[in-house]
Amino acid sequence: MSVNILGVETSCDETSAAVVVDGLNVSSNIISSQIDVHRKFGGVVPEVASRKHLEMINVVIQEALDEAKIGFEDLDAVAVTYGPGLVGALLVGVAAAKAMSFALNVPLVGVNHLEGHVYANFLNNPGLNFPLLCLVVSGGHTDLVLINGYNDYNVVGRTRDDAAGEAFDKVARVLDLGYPGGPVIDKIAREADPTAIKLPRAYLEEGSLDFSFSGLKTAVVNYAHRAKQRGETVDKENLAAGFQQAVVDVLVDKAIAAAKKYNTPVLMLAGGVAANSQLRHQLGERANAEGMELVCPPLVLCTDNAAMIACAGYHKYLRKNFAPLTLNAVPNLKLGEDKY
Ligand code: KG4
Ligand code: ZN
Repeated sequence: MSVNILGVETSCDETSAAVVVDGLNVSSNIISSQIDVHRKFGGVVPEVASRKHLEMINVVIQEALDEAKIGFEDLDAVAVTYGPGLVGALLVGVAAAKAMSFALNVPLVGVNHLEGHVYANFLNNPGLNFPLLCLVVSGGHTDLVLINGYNDYNVVGRTRDDAAGEAFDKVARVLDLGYPGGPVIDKIAREADPTAIKLPRAYLEEGSLDFSFSGLKTAVVNYAHRAKQRGETVDKENLAAGFQQAVVDVLVDKAIAAAKKYNTPVLMLAGGVAANSQLRHQLGERANAEGMELVCPPLVLCTDNAAMIACAGYHKYLRKNFAPLTLNAVPNLKLGEDKY
């Protein structure tokens, strides 16, 4: 008997619902992005995000069921992101999932958003075994996570200030490239020279697996301001490419160092920044040279989506790790902790 899990994701600016069978096969993965709404504000406006989730949640869930060609009665469980994220946004998904769990009398599974990003790698990939070293790079997090087994997470490196995605978004804003910054910078950097403008790379103390991107961000901002004061035009393409290269160099070096230190033959990428073409390319080459395997989710599963939540939820479902109907949103939920 196959297990149909409905995943629900509303932690930030995508309203998403998906049906995943046996934690492996994606029957549907509907993603309604609010990016166009937030773009004019230059970033996600929490109150607007909650309201948009409310408008879309039922539509998106129905579409996920329709595309999977199943009805509510065919669901075995409902898995929902309950943190970390924007509290008002999370609450929309949590409330919808609780209502379905109660009405359908099926288990409710509470999923950590970052765990979801990690599990995006397990979709369509039955051969993945622990231990794994995962670089989780999103708008809110930059973590090196040693995963020894199910729900056994050990964060061995993290950013001390900005997340990598946050730095992409802030730099794009300063250069008037629009929101979100990552995809635009990725695109324009392809035709540019990443060595034309020298920018700093923060490696921190010898052997540290932590990250820091605020100095790099400030260097980009200062470079742009100085050029403006002198009346010079900034070569945005080269500046964006130089910035991206500085981020990628540090991410790659530290991810490889961590995999070597913990002796993990498989390196995984997860989170929105995992969609970055330079990061995928450079990490792939380095991993290859070191005899490691690099596993990355397909692009659509890198950024926020509910299929990854359903997949992570399936593994909790198998272990009967169900959430009570009192489940609440936990905006600062840590990887590996259950807060219910
Ligand atoms: O995982 P995600 O969708 O949401 C969070 O959980 O934060 O990640 C969004 C972040 C944004 O900062 C966005 O600029 C970045 O991922 N991003 C990228 C790319 N696509 C999305 N960053 C670099 N290159 C990309 N191609
Ligand atoms: Zn995310």
